[in-house]
Amino acid sequence: MKKGLVTGVTGQDGSYLVELLLEKGYQVWGIMRRSSSFHTGRIDHLYKDPHEHPRLRLVYGDLTDGSNLSIIINEIEPDEVYNLGAQSHVRVSFDMPIYTVDTDALGTLRLLEAIRSCNKPAKFYQASSSEMYGKAVETPQTEKTPFYPRSPYGCAKAYSFWQTVNYREAYGLFACNGILFNHESPRRGETFVTRKITRAATRIKLGLQDKLYLGNLDAKRDWGFAGDYVEAMWLMLQQDKPDDYVVATGESRSVREFVKEVFDYLDLDWQKYVEIDPRYFRPTEVDYLEGDASKARKVLKWKPKVTFGELVRMMTDADMKIAEQEKIIKEHEEAK
Ligand code: NAP
Ligand code: GDD
Repeated sequence: MKKGLVTGVTGQDGSYLVELLLEKGYQVWGIMRRSSSFHTGRIDHLYKDPHEHPRLRLVYGDLTDGSNLSIIINEIEPDEVYNLGAQSHVRVSFDMPIYTVDTDALGTLRLLEAIRSCNKPAKFYQASSSEMYGKAVETPQTEKTPFYPRSPYGCAKAYSFWQTVNYREAYGLFACNGILFNHESPRRGETFVTRKITRAATRIKLGLQDKLYLGNLDAKRDWGFAGDYVEAMWLMLQQDKPDDYVVATGESRSVREFVKEVFDYLDLDWQKYVEIDPRYFRPTEVDYLEGDASKARKVLKWKPKVTFGELVRMMTDADMKIAEQEKIIKEHEEAK
């Protein structure tokens, strides 16, 4: 039975990847940070019943703690390591640059060192990002497009990208970068723009909230579905040779278009509810991302299945269910 180890297991992608690996018959270990409150909501359905999923284990660890990573890797001797753990919020990386670099850049290096010094070095997947293209020098972006990162997060991811390439070339590690463009889902963190919009719009529809405050509506992103993208991660580690791949839909839309699509679906006029709050502007912005995933299509035989419209409806429908529950609780409390 193949052994997979996933950092960032409690995150959006971690939860979808674990589902995929379990489906494929892997024994899976997830590295989880210690927290003072529960933060396993995205994977509770997978590990709460150990009889149903005896193949998922969680261990405590942190990308800022190299000795802990070495111990975990040496004990488990995984076949595949997926490094999804990160301080993944671009805006927050301006507030916490040192922590972001420690986790997202040095954390990758710690993991690569732990793998290199293991008796049986695992195949390695690095969660690289389209944020590395930043002030993009060409459109669409491919594996050959030079990087121009625009945030501490983007710089940290560019560092990790090159360390991954260098460990492949210097030590012969089977190490791959997936350069993933934005991917969303009903499990997306609520402070990323898509989920912020679907949460707010559904709450507005049910009278639970009056306004939605956003930053730059002109930024354009290539948005796909996270469930599709974790499949590409897995495929990269099943190839004969390690390599780097762009994973994207090839379609780009502005934040304004995303807002309109969601509000239209709910039969609401977005202009009545959306206001601009400069707090959400970034010191340097990434204006326009659009990926060319031809290489992934050709070599991995991967392509996205969920369309933009389907993604919007999937997220809005899921958040409507949450808003309905919130409304019931509110009415119950008001009736007391
Ligand atoms: P996410 O939902 O924010 O999940 C991040 C995960 O990393 C969480 O499990 C988090 O744990 C964990 N983590 C944070 N700091 C850590 C640390 N110091 N040590 C160990 N774990 C730590 O992010 P995501 O959307 O799933 O993205 C997965 C990866 O892909 C990230 O590396 C992200 O930068 C990258 N990426 C994402 C996208 C995208 O559009 N989603 C695109 C390109 C690349 P807690 O639950 O404890 O916070
Ligand atoms: N978060 C947020 N909140 N973004 C806003 C808001 C707001 O209120 N208003 C406008 N935006 C704009 C941002 O300025 C940005 O241009 C765009 O919406 C998308 O922001 P996010 O959803 O926060 O995602 P991101 O593109 O910065 O980063 C995500 O994608 C990267 C891949 O390109 C993250 O998942 C990163 O981890 C990932 O690497």
